[in-house]
Amino acid sequence: MARITLHQLQAMKAKAEKIAMLTAYDASFGALLEKAGIEVILVGDSLGTVLHGAEHTLSVTMTEMIYHTKQVAYGNQTAWVIADLPFMSYSKPEKALDNAAALLAKGGAQMVKLEGGTAILDTVDQLVRCGIPVCGHLGLLPQSVHRFGYRVQGRDGKAAKEMMRQAEQLEQAGASMLVLECVPATLAADITATLSIPVIGIGAGGACDGQVLVLYDMLGITPGKQLRFSHNFLQETDSVLDAVKAYRQAVKTGHFPAEKHQY
Ligand code: KIV
Repeated sequence: MARITLHQLQAMKAKAEKIAMLTAYDASFGALLEKAGIEVILVGDSLGTVLHGAEHTLSVTMTEMIYHTKQVAYGNQTAWVIADLPFMSYSKPEKALDNAAALLAKGGAQMVKLEGGTAILDTVDQLVRCGIPVCGHLGLLPQSVHRFGYRVQGRDGKAAKEMMRQAEQLEQAGASMLVLECVPATLAADITATLSIPVIGIGAGGACDGQVLVLYDMLGITPGKQLRFSHNFLQETDSVLDAVKAYRQAVKTGHFPAEKHQY
């Protein structure tokens, strides 16, 4: 099977067919996600916390992102692979361009993801003009943890309006996908209906065009209390492959996320 294209992901939004996305960080899971039919893989900088055991994602380097992206790309030939630009790797448009190019050329990703809104519009524009597909990321921004904390964003009217504005700006700047993390379900639904690009939610309710979870969270490997927006799919199945298939099916049928997973 050929690798899924951005055009096909866009068509899925148009047909209201949900997009199933998971994080992965190595070739073995890359291959398993291919077997399960996962359409989009995010090589997230969450690898800093889930693989390295760091407190947050700020210590993740470009070298590490290229290393893990390459592994996933070796293992998976069918998913659209997005790689995160790590903290401070896109502080200036030129720097972002070099680092994004490395994630595509050396890592084998098809798209890069950047956190933020208004502040990164010039960077998004520059990347897109150079042929690099961009995924935005609004809501809870793990790379800005020391500014905003790990909390739901866009709860009051003013903040919701501002998030909508930034989402529209990102699309206008050329972003072709958007991740919304920990956003009230009603706001995420409005943003999804307003934008023409696929909107992927994590803790953002069921109206988004697709869902993403951190792989280790949905397999129940992550230590500590389960996050409200996550679900341990391995609990109800006999194998990791079946758990990932169950996740995909639950996303496709709209059974995940349920109301209890949203804000
Ligand atoms: O790094 C990551 O895994 C992410 C997801 C939480 C969306 O950005």
